[in-house]
Amino acid sequence: VSTLSHALRFATPGPPSKVVQYLPVQGSPPLGPGEVRLRMLAAPVNPADLNFIQGAYGRAPTFAADVTDTPTSPTGIEGCGRVEESRDPRFAEGQHVIVLRALGTWSEFLVARGDDLFDLHSDMPVQQAAMLKINPMTAWRMLRDFVALESGSWIALNAANSGVGRCVIQIARLMGWRTVCFVRNQSERVVELQSLGADLVFEDAGSEAYRAALGQLEGKRPVLALNAVGGLSAGNLLQILDVGGCMVTYGGMSLRNVQISTSQLIFRNLQARGFWLSHWLSNASSLQVAGEYARLSDWVASGKLVQAIDQAYPLADFQFAFARAQEPYRTGRVLFDMESSVVRP
Ligand SMILES: NC(=O)c1ccc[n+]([C@@H]2O[C@H](COP(=O)([O-])OP(=O)(O)OC[C@H]3O[C@@H](n4cnc5c(N)ncnc54)[C@H](OP(=O)(O)O)[C@@H]3O)[C@@H](O)[C@H]2O)c1
Repeated sequence: VSTLSHALRFATPGPPSKVVQYLPVQGSPPLGPGEVRLRMLAAPVNPADLNFIQGAYGRAPTFAADVTDTPTSPTGIEGCGRVEESRDPRFAEGQHVIVLRALGTWSEFLVARGDDLFDLHSDMPVQQAAMLKINPMTAWRMLRDFVALESGSWIALNAANSGVGRCVIQIARLMGWRTVCFVRNQSERVVELQSLGADLVFEDAGSEAYRAALGQLEGKRPVLALNAVGGLSAGNLLQILDVGGCMVTYGGMSLRNVQISTSQLIFRNLQARGFWLSHWLSNASSLQVAGEYARLSDWVASGKLVQAIDQAYPLADFQFAFARAQEPYRTGRVLFDMESSVVRP
C-alpha cells in the first residue's frame, strides 16, 4: 500500500528559496531486493546542498516524475534515518543509519540501497549523526591523504570557523597536530576555536596577517594548508607553506578563483591540489569507507568530535532554514528535524 509523504524537491535549478517546494511524494513504494526504507530523522543544510539546487555543483540534478506531474529532483546530500523496512539482511527495523551516497535526505521517507548506507553502530545524538558524512570525513581525508603529518606538524586553514574547519581543528588536536587558523572576524572566534583545540587564530586580513602568524610558529612553517575561501586568501596560505608543502582546496566561499604565485609554486616546490569527498566515496573500497566512518563515529559518540548546531527546523519551514543558513557569522549548522514535520495519518 502506497501512502503519501512529503519531501523538498525542485523542478528547475535556481535560487533555493525560489525553486524548492514542499511536495507530496510516494511514501512507501514497494522495496526491491537490497533496498531499505528509512524514516528520515535529521539532515543538515550544507553549502553543497544549496549549490546543487542552484545548478552550481559537481553533480547535476536528475528530474523524475513522482506524484506531481512535473518532474522534480530530490534534495539533501546527507542525513540520519531510522530503518522502517529492509530487504538488505545487513539492516533491521529500528537501526539508525546515515545516508552515504543516495540523494534525497530532505524528506520524511527515503528508499536507498543498503550499499549506500552506513550502520552507525555507536550510540550518538541523531543530529550529530546527520552531519557525520560530509564535514568530519572531508576534514579527515584532507589531513590523511595529502601530506605525511608528524606529531607537532603545523596545518594552516582559512574559514577555520566553518563546519569543516572546526572538524579539522578537533581532529588535529586528537592526532597531536597543530593548527594556525584564519577567520574573517577574529575577535569573536579566538576563544571559541581555541576551546576546540586551535593553537593560533588570526584575522584573514591580507598578507601581513599571514606573515605575522608565521612569526609565531617557533621557526616552523605549515606543511599542509586547507583552503575553503579562494582568491587572495588562498595565495596567502600558500605563501606561508613550508618548502614542498601542499595546499588543498576544497571550497570557494569567496566565489573568487584561487590566486597563487607562479614563483612560489616553482621555487618553493609547492603543490596545489583539490579535494572532493564525492570522488573519495566513489573510489574507496567499501571496507575502507566502513572502517573510516567507524573511526569517525567513535570520536563523535565519545564527544571528542562535536559539530555545533545553530537551529533545527521542520521540513515545511524550509524558507526559514535557507535564510538562516545563508546568514554570515553563524556559529553552527542549520538542520531539518523531520520528527517535527511528519504528516501522520
Ligand atoms: N570538497 C568537499 O568535499 C567539501 C566537503 C565539505 C564542504 N565543502 C566546502 O567547504 C566550504 C565550507 O563548508 P562548510 O559546510 O564547512 O561551511 P559553513 O560551516 O557553512 O561555513 C561557511 C564558512 O565560509 C565562510 N565564508 C562565507 N562567505 C565567505 C566569504 N565571502 N569570504 C570568506 N569566507 C566566507 C564563513 O565565514 P563566517 O563565519 O565569517 O561567515 C564560514 O567560515 C564550502 O565551500 C563547502 O561547499 C567541500
